Amino acid sequence: MRKTALKTLLLGFTLHLSIVHQSTAQPINAQEIEQRIETLMSQMTLEEKIGQLVQKTVYGPDRIEELKDAIRKGHIGSILNAGDLTTANTLQKTALEESRLGIPLIFGRDVIHGYRTIFPIPLAQACSFDPELVSRACSIAALEAWSQGIHWTFAPMMDISRDPRWGRIAESFGEDPYLTEIMSVAMIKGFQGDNMAAPGKIAACAKHYVGYGAAEGGKDYNTTLIPESELRNVYLRPFHAASNAGVATFMSAFSDLNGIPASGNAFTLDQILRKEWNFKGFVVSDWGSVAELAVHGFAKDNREAALKAITAGVDMEMVTPCYEEHLADLVRQGIIPEELINERCANVLRIKFRLGLFENASPTPADNVLLAPAHLETARQLAIESMVLLQNDDWLLPLSKDKTVAVIGPLADAPHEQVGCWVVDGSGNDAISPRKALEQMLGIEKVLFAPGLEKSRSTDTKGFKQAVATARKADVVLLFLGEENILSGEAHCRAFLTLPGAQEELAKAVIATGKPVAVVIMVGRPLVFKEACKGARSILYAWHPGTMGGPAVADLLFGNAVPSAKLASTLPRTVGQVPLYYNHRNTGRPPVAGNYNIPTGTPLDPVGFTANYLDVSVAPEYPFGFGLSYTTFAYSNLQLSANQISENETLRISVDVNNSGNLEATEVVQLYIRDKVASLTRPVKELKDFRRVTLKAGNTQRVEFELKPSDLGFYLNGPELIIEPGDFEVFVGTNSEQTLNATFALTE
Ligand code: BGC
Repeated sequence: MRKTALKTLLLGFTLHLSIVHQSTAQPINAQEIEQRIETLMSQMTLEEKIGQLVQKTVYGPDRIEELKDAIRKGHIGSILNAGDLTTANTLQKTALEESRLGIPLIFGRDVIHGYRTIFPIPLAQACSFDPELVSRACSIAALEAWSQGIHWTFAPMMDISRDPRWGRIAESFGEDPYLTEIMSVAMIKGFQGDNMAAPGKIAACAKHYVGYGAAEGGKDYNTTLIPESELRNVYLRPFHAASNAGVATFMSAFSDLNGIPASGNAFTLDQILRKEWNFKGFVVSDWGSVAELAVHGFAKDNREAALKAITAGVDMEMVTPCYEEHLADLVRQGIIPEELINERCANVLRIKFRLGLFENASPTPADNVLLAPAHLETARQLAIESMVLLQNDDWLLPLSKDKTVAVIGPLADAPHEQVGCWVVDGSGNDAISPRKALEQMLGIEKVLFAPGLEKSRSTDTKGFKQAVATARKADVVLLFLGEENILSGEAHCRAFLTLPGAQEELAKAVIATGKPVAVVIMVGRPLVFKEACKGARSILYAWHPGTMGGPAVADLLFGNAVPSAKLASTLPRTVGQVPLYYNHRNTGRPPVAGNYNIPTGTPLDPVGFTANYLDVSVAPEYPFGFGLSYTTFAYSNLQLSANQISENETLRISVDVNNSGNLEATEVVQLYIRDKVASLTRPVKELKDFRRVTLKAGNTQRVEFELKPSDLGFYLNGPELIIEPGDFEVFVGTNSEQTLNATFALTE
């Protein structure tokens, strides 16, 4: 027993205990930090202070000497993408031992959904509605990254994303501000813990501040136009929560917000972030976005770009040379005061102190941290909890293990693709594909494999014949469709949302065999896939599920685990409906159900003139919050503690949730509200809370929620939360559409 416990300890996250680390486990006191900053800065030259605001990347081994030289002079404060521990240690040694003041460098890296152990893409993680597990995954990612000399991750990305054409929707938590806030804070806690100086902890970065996900046309880097009220109610919300949660850094976005690029935007960076939220960390620009102020047409050259960015509130410039080349001169010319440089430098040093870098800037690497068994186990669990069961006609799933399965499709055995976009240090070589996992689970002889298409985008149908023949030989077909990982992520946007290549034709050919087909969709975005899946019995939306995606799929298909995930992003019927999200406003002419497809010859549709399309329903294919289980849940007895509350009271909401099927399973119980009349039109529904409840077959649990008046508030065009008395509707249910409803009033 003791032996097993010790083994678990050694394999688990506590593994970092075995790493020799000199840094203090106690957070360094804030006052002491300010004193140390003051003492240090009193010895720094202007150039050295500016050096702290400069971040450089390692372009390759031949540029190392050049970097070392700049580091020696105190001209670099941070390195992005050092690449490996040896390079990081070499550069750090130069900073500590050869620069005049020995100020440590801070090493940053994109640890987006795992370091070596790759978890599902963030959009998939959001579908788990399980912030504790998401947080645990990030603490694993932090430990793995920290063990390789990384102090700082550029995550989480908390851009509200309502357009699946945008490739970076994969990196987001979807369309909802509340869910995004919960997931962002969970990630920050996982990366940073309570004390960033503790072994295995790294600084997080709230990005991309702000509005980047609203890029027009779903085209990356594109313009965004967001009124202040919408900015505050939707886009800023997770960032505000991140600031309150103590996130160490923010990243200013590439995009132009209402005509002012985010990296030169004094309203968002200075007024909101610093003055309203009192943020004490530092802001790094996104890659090159300071120099790009000139490309936007907001600055005439790099010098003016440096001036605008530093004045607006960008503390550290990522990669481009505007700060290093122009700030000193701007100070000497009296155009910017040295106090501004002091303030920005202090912001950077504060985080270096909080990270304990002055005590210990480099970890001593330990074996067995990367891809440790406990890390892989968490990756498998999170993948299980991220995959959304959309359809399961006649309960095809779960399958029994005596079946012979035909494993077909370009994503069935594509470990490199399943890890998803933004994987810098992970590798498909570590990943287990569904085909491999099924062979391990069922025995190689029961798994008949025919990819049908080489890649998701392939159009060569020569593999179809074998795919169809293979399907015919099996009891059940498991059809793995989707996207290569390169089809989502930064600058990887799509104008079509259908399955790429000849996948639809492949699906049709395989389904036409008449064999029962379960489709597994492995993608980085919401896709339009229903037509391709016509005739399939089951659809599991598995996203890009990471290193352990294969075992997770196998667990779900064969009933070792029961699906519990819910969509964090609405799935549209067609790209023409986009942007489509559940928390839209009502309009003055809300759509009438079924009112499309006007018969030919109709002169004037009597129920027309509503917010409808002529050629497709306005309803989504699957709504936000949707996800099936292998059991059913029945909701009843929704009760409110009062039918009205005053501004000091809390409303309690309770509901009975019954597992009315035959298996123990987890349900995500969702609470939404609608503010019926307000001085700003409010969404038709807004997620306010959720609970994951696990129920044995037949069992019922009373699930309780609380709503405070502040939960009912909204922002107009300013920082004050407005709480207006009036009537509200409450919805509790299994997704954003199927709910029990009640009403209450908030009184004066
Ligand atoms: C991306 C950021 C990323 C940065 C550093 C940029 O291109 O927009 O999200 O953190 O590069 O790699």
